[in-house]
Formats: sequence, C-alpha cells, structure tokens
Amino acid sequence: MYTQSLDLPNTDAGNTDSAGLPTEAAFLARIARDEKIEPQDAMPEAYRKSLIRQISQHAHSEVVGMLPEGNWITRAPSLKRKEILLAKVQDEGGHGLYLYSAAETLGASRDDMIDALHSGKAKYSSIFNYPTDSWADIGTIGWLVDGAAIMNQVPLCRCSYGPYARAMIRVCKEESFHQRQGFDIVRALCEGTPAQKQLAQESVNRWWWPTLMMFGPHDSDSEHSGQANAWGIKRISNDDLRQTFVDVTVPQAAFLGLTLPDPLLEWNAERGHYDFGPLDWDEFWRVVRGDGPCNAERLNDRVEAFEKGRWVREAAVAHAARHAARAVSIASEKIAA
Ligand SMILES: [Fe+2]
Ligand SMILES: [Fe+2]
Repeated sequence: MYTQSLDLPNTDAGNTDSAGLPTEAAFLARIARDEKIEPQDAMPEAYRKSLIRQISQHAHSEVVGMLPEGNWITRAPSLKRKEILLAKVQDEGGHGLYLYSAAETLGASRDDMIDALHSGKAKYSSIFNYPTDSWADIGTIGWLVDGAAIMNQVPLCRCSYGPYARAMIRVCKEESFHQRQGFDIVRALCEGTPAQKQLAQESVNRWWWPTLMMFGPHDSDSEHSGQANAWGIKRISNDDLRQTFVDVTVPQAAFLGLTLPDPLLEWNAERGHYDFGPLDWDEFWRVVRGDGPCNAERLNDRVEAFEKGRWVREAAVAHAARHAARAVSIASEKIAA
C-alpha cells in the first residue's frame, strides 16, 4: 500500500539544485498543481523531516490512545460493548502501524521512532494523558475525541504526501465507526436512569476542554502551521477546525440533553458560528510538556508493553532467519543434484 515501485521518480528535470533536490519554486509548483509527492520523488529535506515528525507523532498518538480505553475492556458493561470496544482499540493499533509504515517510506527507522517515544523526546496527542475514570468516559472519548480526530484527519486525506493521504482515507472510515459507537454509549446513558445521565454529564464536563485543545494552539502561536500549509500538508487551520467542531457538536449535545461546560457558549448570528470561552493554554502546555495527570503512567505502560513483547519480536526474527537459511540449503541441494 505504501510503495508504487513501478512508478518513475518525478525529478522535475531542470528544476533541481546541485544536490539533485528540487528547488523550492519547483517543489511548490508541484504542490500548487495538487500533485501527490511519492516516496521515490525528490523532496526538500525540510519537507521530509517535517512529515516524519508529524506522521510519527500521529502514529504515537494512535498507539498511546489504546491505553485509556484498553483500561475498560475488562469492565465493559455487556458482551456487545466489550466486543465493540475491543474492535475499536484494535483499530487504533492498526492506525499506528499504517502510520509508522508511512513514516518509514520517508527513511525514518521504526526503532528510532519508538526510542523517541519511550525516552519522552517525541510528542503524542495530549488528550491521552487524561484519565478514564468511568464507563461514560469511553462514550465521551468516542463521541468527542474520535469526533475531533475525524475533523483533524479528513483534510489530511488531501495531504500532499501520497502515503500519508492514502493511509488517512482508511483511518477516517474507521474513526467514523469510533465516533458512532461513542455517541451510542453516551446516548444509552442519557436515556437511562438519572444516575447514568449524571455519569455522562460529569464525563462531558471533564473532557470538553481537553478535546478543544486537541486542535492545537491558536494559528498565531502554532510553530509549524504556516509551513505545513504552504507544503499542502495541512489544509485547514487549527482555529477553523476547532470552530467547525464546536458548531457540529453543540446540536449533538442538545439532542442528548447534555450541557457543555462553557457559560460563554452562544450562537453568534452575525458570524454564523458559536462563540465559545477561552481555552486554558497553561494547562495545554503543561500537559504537552509532560506534566499532565497520566503522562508518566502512559509512558511506563508503553515501555512495559514493548519489553514484554520483546521475546515475540526476537522469536519472529529467529524464525524468519531459520526459514530463509532452510530455503537457501534446499536450493543449493537442488543445484548440486
Ligand atoms: Fe485512530
Ligand atoms: Fe479512533
């Protein structure tokens, strides 16, 4: 899925510098023509590095994102809910694998990416550093967090880098299932007893603001946004995506009979959008920098899972080596005969 080895590299002859890399103007012209950049194409080093950073962070977010929900698999309230949650958490693992593979097409090593995550050097989405205190949180994560992820990821289906864009098409289809299953959990709680509805309300109160922070800093404070826009990696700004998410979610909360915890949330007829209150950027940066409620726990869990799985990886490599050696010896016996 990630290689098109029969394609010829697009070198834009005559538009390359002495190192054989495309000039900025030639590369931007390809982006402007909406051409997909493929792994074998020459690309500016900064574009390649920026994509590796973004795609690997995205991969880490998928894999770390399995932890808060995995925490509830054994405690799901019915067999059906357990099956759905298992499938969802498994999907997130799959998303991580597509994305690590997409980053590898740019020359990144998987070992280096995993090392960067485990050493705390690499970032992942700060939303996964919040705890899942109740079953309602599993509903809220699907409804709000996967809902915000879709909002962020749909424009990435048109990203200029082919393997990333193609991975996003499948990921978004699965995210849509995640969002629906979450909404269905919250709906069931809201239609249940007053205590169940209260559980849903309390969960939404905790997750609303961290979800809005998922769209990242204001465009004016976003370190990478401008360049990512110019390169066709990012198509819609953080603030515009956040506004669209609020506009779409307010009627859903009203349908459920839930209140969003923002006294300043109000329809603005002039703008044609909901106004909403300011985000707590101190909290955002605190969690991004490693001091959220569960940062240490999440990293410890990832490192522990990696170490526990070491023997499986080593056994697979040993098995493959033995298999290859046997194939060579059978082939040489045939030649000798
Ligand atoms: Fe995902
Ligand atoms: Fe998801």
